[in-house]
Amino acid sequence: MVAPEPRYRDLTVSAPAKINLVLKILDRRGDGYHNLWSLMHAIDLEDELQFRVNGRVEGGQEGFNLEIPSGGLPSDHRNLVSRAVALLGKEAIPVAGMTVTLRKRIPVGAGLGGGSSDAAATLIGLNHLLGTRRSTADLMAMGADLGSDVPFFFLAPSAVVRGRGDVVQRVELTGKRWFVLVYPGFPIQTSSAYARLAATRPSSGMVPDALDERLARGALGWEEVLAFLENDFETVLLRDYPDLGRIKFALLDAGAEQALVSGSGSTVFGVFADPGAAQQARERLVNQGPSWHVFAVGSGSGVRLSEGVATGE
Ligand code: C5P
Repeated sequence: MVAPEPRYRDLTVSAPAKINLVLKILDRRGDGYHNLWSLMHAIDLEDELQFRVNGRVEGGQEGFNLEIPSGGLPSDHRNLVSRAVALLGKEAIPVAGMTVTLRKRIPVGAGLGGGSSDAAATLIGLNHLLGTRRSTADLMAMGADLGSDVPFFFLAPSAVVRGRGDVVQRVELTGKRWFVLVYPGFPIQTSSAYARLAATRPSSGMVPDALDERLARGALGWEEVLAFLENDFETVLLRDYPDLGRIKFALLDAGAEQALVSGSGSTVFGVFADPGAAQQARERLVNQGPSWHVFAVGSGSGVRLSEGVATGE
């Protein structure tokens, strides 16, 4: 097969983090996963992926190289970026002679979807770079195989996610809010959070019907969302990790309208009505816990691409 020429030699892709404004864990499915109902929102804390085509592109995956300057993450087949490349490569899309540099800013194991966003950014970036013209629906289906949070990032910044994470409906959130995120300095494994929840909860969670009905009528305002902020993992995580409760209290004490654990932890976020208040809260919290990593951010956009030198120039 003749490999299509890449359209550009260089492409930079921004991969935003997410927070879960609502996360309801419903029933356990036949495939071992859980159905969920989540309102997810992208935030302006981003990893950056740079794709560089180094030479003539042949078929297969030899010559693909993942670099992570900060370290702290495997750069082999366990990395979701490598797995996303392999998924496209399996279908004879040429990726030989390509280096991907992953600059991590999103904490890992933090409930912020960093790895999933990197995977979505890889699928979107490679599809563009190589000119393979796969549909968003196709790429989302590939992404769903890599992780339950991956499909969301195709329809960010705000969406309701159902099923295993694979049924995504874009939502318009009217108004603006800012966020202070506190990563406590340790990760929590998603599977362990599910196990803790199963051990403490006799029955499955419920769809938030009132919010579901409002959504069916169109856009949602931040005031309405704040009234529904909830995470089914929170009770058991606050019980097992007292630092998360301390962070939640510190965020509320620093003026947050609401504070909540994101995803399956370990980050706790606070919601603020203006950016100045969020900055002040960040400054207050930054020295309160020796291992806390504190970020003040606005809402994010979806995955963004910026092109380098076009091939042949
Ligand atoms: O898909 P992801 O890699 O994020 O899932 C990690 C783990 O979280 C799964 O192995 C499963 O135990 C649990 N999970 C689940 N139901 C979901 C998503 C994740 O049970 N919808």
